[in-house]
Amino acid sequence: MNPLVHYRLDGQLALIGLSRPPVNALGQPLRATLLKACERAAADPAVRAIVLHGANGLFSAGADISEFGSPASHAAPDLPGLLLRLTRIDKPLIAAVGKLALGGGLELALACGYRIGEPGARIGLPEINLGLLPGAGGTQRLPRLIGAESALNMILSGEQLDASRAHLLGLFDCLADGPEQLLEQACGYARDLLARGAPAQPAAPYPNPGAELPEDFFAFYRAEHEARWKSRLAPRLVLAALEAACVLPLDEGLVREQDLFRQAEASRQSQALRHVFFAEREAGRVPGIDPAIELRSIRQVAVIGAGTMGGGIAMNFANAGIPVTVLEQQADALQRGLGNVRRNYEISVQRGKLSQEQLEQRMALLRGTLDYADIADADLVIEAVFEKLEVKQQVFRTLDEVCKPGAILATNTSSLDVDAIAAVTRRPQDVIGLHFFSPANVMRLLEVVRARETAPQVLATTLKLARRIGKLPVVSGVCFGFIGNRMLEPYAREAMRLVLEGATPAQVDAVLTGIDLNMGVLSMLDLAGIDVNYLVRQANHAAFADDPSYCRLGDELYAQGRYGQKTGSGFFRYEGRQRLDDPAVTTLAERLAGELRIPRRPIDAGEIHDRCLFMLINEGIQLLDEGIALRASDIDLVWINGYGFPAHLGGPLHYAEQLGLDKVLAGILACQASLGEHGQRWFQPAPLLQRLVAAGRTRIETF
Ligand code: CAA
Repeated sequence: MNPLVHYRLDGQLALIGLSRPPVNALGQPLRATLLKACERAAADPAVRAIVLHGANGLFSAGADISEFGSPASHAAPDLPGLLLRLTRIDKPLIAAVGKLALGGGLELALACGYRIGEPGARIGLPEINLGLLPGAGGTQRLPRLIGAESALNMILSGEQLDASRAHLLGLFDCLADGPEQLLEQACGYARDLLARGAPAQPAAPYPNPGAELPEDFFAFYRAEHEARWKSRLAPRLVLAALEAACVLPLDEGLVREQDLFRQAEASRQSQALRHVFFAEREAGRVPGIDPAIELRSIRQVAVIGAGTMGGGIAMNFANAGIPVTVLEQQADALQRGLGNVRRNYEISVQRGKLSQEQLEQRMALLRGTLDYADIADADLVIEAVFEKLEVKQQVFRTLDEVCKPGAILATNTSSLDVDAIAAVTRRPQDVIGLHFFSPANVMRLLEVVRARETAPQVLATTLKLARRIGKLPVVSGVCFGFIGNRMLEPYAREAMRLVLEGATPAQVDAVLTGIDLNMGVLSMLDLAGIDVNYLVRQANHAAFADDPSYCRLGDELYAQGRYGQKTGSGFFRYEGRQRLDDPAVTTLAERLAGELRIPRRPIDAGEIHDRCLFMLINEGIQLLDEGIALRASDIDLVWINGYGFPAHLGGPLHYAEQLGLDKVLAGILACQASLGEHGQRWFQPAPLLQRLVAAGRTRIETF
């Protein structure tokens, strides 16, 4: 059995190596074993100093996230208690930090009197991403080590620092020459400390971290940042903890930190963010696909189409060092496309995010061509041409002719039938959907659409490649709109209908941003393009042909050329980037409502919430039941990373679970009953939702 901790003596030193793969998460068993090892070293008169390290190189990724919210999280020895005990051992403790020290892992290092890192080590306090604050002394010990303001920035950003920055800030006392030398040099450092008679805990560089701050620092900070935090709890708790560090003695500050941490841990927001953490790791696992499957090698990529989407897609590969050929039909379109890519990189250079040299390196990886023969050797081809089935099928016929055997042929369609695209080739097993979100070089989500005949090897290869280019891949089956756009459809439909019934676009969007969505759905349609939405809708016309009111407002805006932001008007009016209400939309809604005999009335926020969000949720549950999504958490990831759903609500389905599935079902049925024909037609609860509620289940899963 894995001993969890390796204990070894080296002269006067005790070497204690954490050994809980893969990341030395500090769960209760490891905490208990570590405490025992430290007590043994503390009690051994032959031991004069203790070196703590990761037995396999990596120091620790922090508390065990899977324990949060369960009794194990605080089971003895709890992390704060363990670390407090380490600070009281009367012998120098030296943390030898290899690879990573995150969260509680960094707090463990902070509890040691001394820290040495290796040049590749990264450290940080990412708890904020889990809706938490550092809860094992980090908010109190870090400001005393690097100053309150630096500590606050580090904790609120959750960012990882590289070793040289950590050294510069005083988080590492020194750096080893390399990972192989880390342990040996940590021991050398420990011997030096002993030779110098160094104390077990050196004096803190900032014993009174508040001393150098202006008196109103925290009030100012709060006022400046609160709007950006929206309703997030964790940043506010972090600020309170840092304030405590500035006004309370260490021991009292540690107690205050504990209170705040427990508040955060118990919050729904942290529950939601922990759900998202595990969802992201789960998304890569596809039932039935052996993780050991041999992958195809992807050394060269081709993108068909140099438009905004094609250019953005190509950038992802150039960024990852993979050569990419962009194919266009006309020389001027090609030049324009590559010019846009260069301009995007130039903006990054201006913002200091990229060096000029990196820009040139990336551009050198991009090649343009007008000739399909130039992409014959590509290992992966991604088509990003006009969103029309016949156009895409024609491209795939050509690809089938020219591409080498074994090449993966991908379509970037956002809604069309990938099976119908695959069917025009003689190699449907090599065809897959790769739905990038716009702007494709920025958005993290990648919907990976598994068509009927897509080979497991093709799916596994693209999932791996997606991670290599920094994307979060989520697998979807084939249906109109896949996971994301299919759910957008009823959500947008209700938003438009609410405006016909008497709400204003601003009112609808305010309810959605009121629960912290990045954007309301109507602003989002304005951004994406009313025309784009209209054309997608037309392709699915049969699904709503029997409802004359269906998205009528969107259709009329389209007919008036109000395509959204790009034409200066849509559901809203735009002056520059400023969004303004437009009374013309209300007038239009009144006219349409009259024509359709839809009575107008005042509509409250609760109704807007339930109609938009319950329809979104209902569609998600339905497509889970249909097997389009593999799991509810995949759906959550799509909406968080593709549509600005707040991560601290955990995604729409997690949000539904937090609201209560019975309440969601009751809400849908209430709308069905109260909204007349519209309610009868569209508010049909998903059978899976009904089954879940009938069975008393509270989690969304197929059964
Ligand atoms: N607790 C439990 N499991 C963890 C973990 C943690 N802190 N960190 C990583 N893991 C698990 C992952 O779930 C994954 O498990 P599976 O293989 O079963 O899916 C495995 O370790 C490997 O993780 P990744 O797939 O993410 O591997 P990676 O190499 O891409 O990334 C990592 C490694 C950078 C450590 C990343 O996992 C990560 O960011 N982990 C979270 C770090 C973190 O947030 N730490 C703070 C914890 S909260 C805390 O410490 C509170 C406190 O103050 C007491």
